[in-house]
Amino acid sequence: MAEILPTDPSYNRDMRLPGEPTPMGEAPYAIEVRGLRKVYRASGGQSAKEALKGIDIAVPRGSIFGLLGPNGAGKSTLINILAGLVVKSSGSASIWGFDIDANPRQSRASIGIVPQELNIDPFFTPAEALELQAGLYGVPKRERRTMEILRAMGLEDKADAYARTLSGGMRRRLLVAKAMVHNPPVLVLDEPTAGVDIELRKQLWDYVKLLHANGTTIVLTTHYLEEAQELCDTIAIIDKGEVVACEPTQTLIGRVTDKKLIVRTVWPVTPEQAVAIKGLRTEITASGALAILYNPVEAGVMDILDLLRASGIEIVDISTEESDLEDVFLQLTGSHRGQNGGSVSR
Ligand SMILES: Nc1ncnc2c1ncn2[C@@H]1O[C@H](COP(=O)(O)OP(=O)(O)OP(=O)(O)O)[C@@H](O)[C@H]1O
Ligand SMILES: [Mg+2]
Repeated sequence: MAEILPTDPSYNRDMRLPGEPTPMGEAPYAIEVRGLRKVYRASGGQSAKEALKGIDIAVPRGSIFGLLGPNGAGKSTLINILAGLVVKSSGSASIWGFDIDANPRQSRASIGIVPQELNIDPFFTPAEALELQAGLYGVPKRERRTMEILRAMGLEDKADAYARTLSGGMRRRLLVAKAMVHNPPVLVLDEPTAGVDIELRKQLWDYVKLLHANGTTIVLTTHYLEEAQELCDTIAIIDKGEVVACEPTQTLIGRVTDKKLIVRTVWPVTPEQAVAIKGLRTEITASGALAILYNPVEAGVMDILDLLRASGIEIVDISTEESDLEDVFLQLTGSHRGQNGGSVSR
């Protein structure tokens, strides 16, 4: 995989061409967003929607930055504004020091985006799609690395196959490949592992880690909190168009003073039952146990067990756990974890 990374010593992460404007000073941020608002206009019976309510985010250069939040929080809206696919209502955004309004060409050249939607032209082969993309970004023929990138994405043997014959996971990897053709210093991945099997997820993350180790700043959204916890050094949580937290991963996890009580029950507790237990923050674990978040200062285990018994839940066994990112997420957004072992929804 390493061979796709730049080896040319004249390679310049700055993306500046001779005679082009230089960014003000050396901005320490790969991405800087200030007071960013987006209101989608009303259309077709849908009322107007304020998807971003004036958010501030600064992604340090060289980080792996996680953007988390429940469905509809505004993550893709933010990413699509950076990609130039959605027009912001107000506020400012810059990429690698280039303002997206004042220097649209440089800012776009500084970022590669892997979109959430699988928007692949079915009539091109992966090799053609990459060549086309390289042409769009003005990458000279001798600098193109089409086969190298395809090899790194495990698509070498599909180079000349029509995209419509690729599986969903292969299509997603092709999107990652497309985002890489112009060798951007910032790579943004919007839900890159949705629909990708576990083996390929691991391969994709290994590749992302390699890019990061070689200097690429990574921004990713994922619904798999354990992935974010493992990969990201900094995490922002967005909820209903607002940033509710933005901190180093360990600080964020350390914020939770709550403990988790795991209760095994005689009969499986349904999500409806779990939500209905008044005054308790609950979730159902992947194994079907009931997990309860509680602050030991405010409530004792005995009080909680009394409440459960009063709700008609018969207890077999109890245990406690330390907090993780999932708990932070739950505490900050109030989202409930589903029974699908990791995704969050509401
Ligand atoms: N083109 C659009 N027109 C109108 N409303 C939109 C449009 N795109 C998104 N929205 C709305 O804006 C809000 C934010 O959507 P967005 O896609 O940014 O969320 P998200 O955080 O990426 O969610 P998910 O985790 O489901 O991908 C949602 O309420 C959504 O319905
Ligand atoms: Mg999205």
